Amino acid sequence: MSDVEALKREAGIAACRYVKSGMNVGLGTGSTVKYTIVEIGRRLSEEGLEIIGVPTSEATRELAQGLGIPLMEISDVKSLDITIDGADEFDSHFSLIKGGGGALTREKIVANLSKSMIVVADESKRVDVLGKFNLPVEVSPEKYLSVIEEISNICPGKVLLRRKMTNARDEDKIYVTDNDGYILDCEFGPTITNPGEMERMISVIDGVVEVGLFVGICDAVFVASTSGVDIMVNPEGRLS
Ligand code: 5RP
Repeated sequence: MSDVEALKREAGIAACRYVKSGMNVGLGTGSTVKYTIVEIGRRLSEEGLEIIGVPTSEATRELAQGLGIPLMEISDVKSLDITIDGADEFDSHFSLIKGGGGALTREKIVANLSKSMIVVADESKRVDVLGKFNLPVEVSPEKYLSVIEEISNICPGKVLLRRKMTNARDEDKIYVTDNDGYILDCEFGPTITNPGEMERMISVIDGVVEVGLFVGICDAVFVASTSGVDIMVNPEGRLS
């Protein structure tokens, strides 16, 4: 296991301490929260933990099902006790960029339904100003060209339609989300000083399904570095 992988594992497992029997748990998507989900599966089979999970992607659904975690659909849930998820970037105000794995729409729905949201990440995801990681925006396929035009008016860099490598000859196809949307990856660079305002500006564009900025949602970040797992609790959040 590489050093980064070991850090992801540490953060992922540490956040499990918030998961208790009887909870409905939002299960995020990505290579860090995968370790949380595997740990939940272990506690289910070895310690008698009883939870119901709500997956934020088809990949997470498959992983959780394979581990025997009982699942519910998002549409059947009115509220969740907690969501644990990864992030592509987080800042000191607990604002996030998410969507590197393309699951931002379901991730935001599930996080918003939850009484609290915990992010698991390694130290490399911590930034002063959001935007070095290209901001993912999910869009309707019918509207993607006009959305590219509109976002280009506010984004200093390129607005790229996400593509998926499909074969060894490097022939690529458009990446399609679990909701049959497309993803635009927007090169803002570290310029997003007011993520709430940016989220509002992009979300009103016709054809935008969801913006990968999560503002005022995250309650704590479990961040793993070589010196251990630091738990940052949002003083304005629901866990403080
Ligand atoms: C998926 C996400 C992921 O949580 C984010 O990309 C972080 O993933 P990883 O832990 O693999 O770096 O937002 O849509």
